Amino acid sequence: MNAKQIAADYAVESVKDGMTVGIGTGSTSAFAIEALGRKVQQGLFIKAVASSIRSEEAATNVGIKLIPFSEVETIDIYIDGADEVDKDLHLIKGGGGALLREKILAFNSKEFLVIVDSSKLVEHLGKFLLPVEIIPFAMELTLKQLQKLGCTTKVRQDGKEPYITDNSNLIIDCDFKRIEQVDQIHQSINAIPGVVENGLFTKNIVSKIIVGYESGEVKVIEK
Ligand code: A5P
Repeated sequence: MNAKQIAADYAVESVKDGMTVGIGTGSTSAFAIEALGRKVQQGLFIKAVASSIRSEEAATNVGIKLIPFSEVETIDIYIDGADEVDKDLHLIKGGGGALLREKILAFNSKEFLVIVDSSKLVEHLGKFLLPVEIIPFAMELTLKQLQKLGCTTKVRQDGKEPYITDNSNLIIDCDFKRIEQVDQIHQSINAIPGVVENGLFTKNIVSKIIVGYESGEVKVIEK
C-alpha cells in the first residue's frame, strides 16, 4: 500500500458534513483530494478552499465545491503534506511552491492535520532546502539579507525561467544545513522587507502529524 495514501485516507475520516476544509498541495494531498472526492460523491457536503491553483483544479475535477479565500468564514480542518517534520513537530513546507496560501490556511484553521510518510520525519530541519517566497522587484537586496542569516540561496527555476508562484512571486530555496532555532529563524526571515512568507511552520499551528506506513499502519503524533 502507498504510505502517503494511508495517511491521507486516515485524515479524511475526520472531515464531517458541513465543514469548510482547507485543501493542501503536493503528492500526499493529491490522495486526500481523491479520498474527499469519493466522500462527496457518496453524499458528504463540504465547502473547500485550496492552497494552490493546481489543487483547486484537482478538487473541482472530483466534484468538491470550492470557495475563494474572500468567502471563507472559518476553516474547520486543513489537511496537507510536509517536506520535513522534526521531533518538536516543526515543519518545512513549500516544496511545491504553495507555502504562502498553505500558511494562511494553517494559521486560520481550527485543526491542521499534517499527512506524511515516515521518510519526512527528521531529527532536525534543514536537509530539505527552506523555501522562502519573495517579491520579485527587490530580489537582489532580499537575497543578501537572507544570506546574512547564514544560508546559501538559490532562486527556484521552472526550466530556464524563474519559478513564479500563484501569487506572482519568486521562491528562494535556502540552505541552512541544519535549523535548530526554528522560531528565531522563522521570525528573522519574515522580518526582512521583501520576504512575503517562509516555509517554516512552527509547532504552534500544527494539530496532529499523521504518519502512514506501507503496512497499512498509521501513527498519530500529537503535541
Ligand atoms: C507544497 O507547497 C508543499 O508544502 C507540500 O505539502 C510538501 O511539499 C509535501 O509534498 P509531497 O506530499 O508531494 O511530499
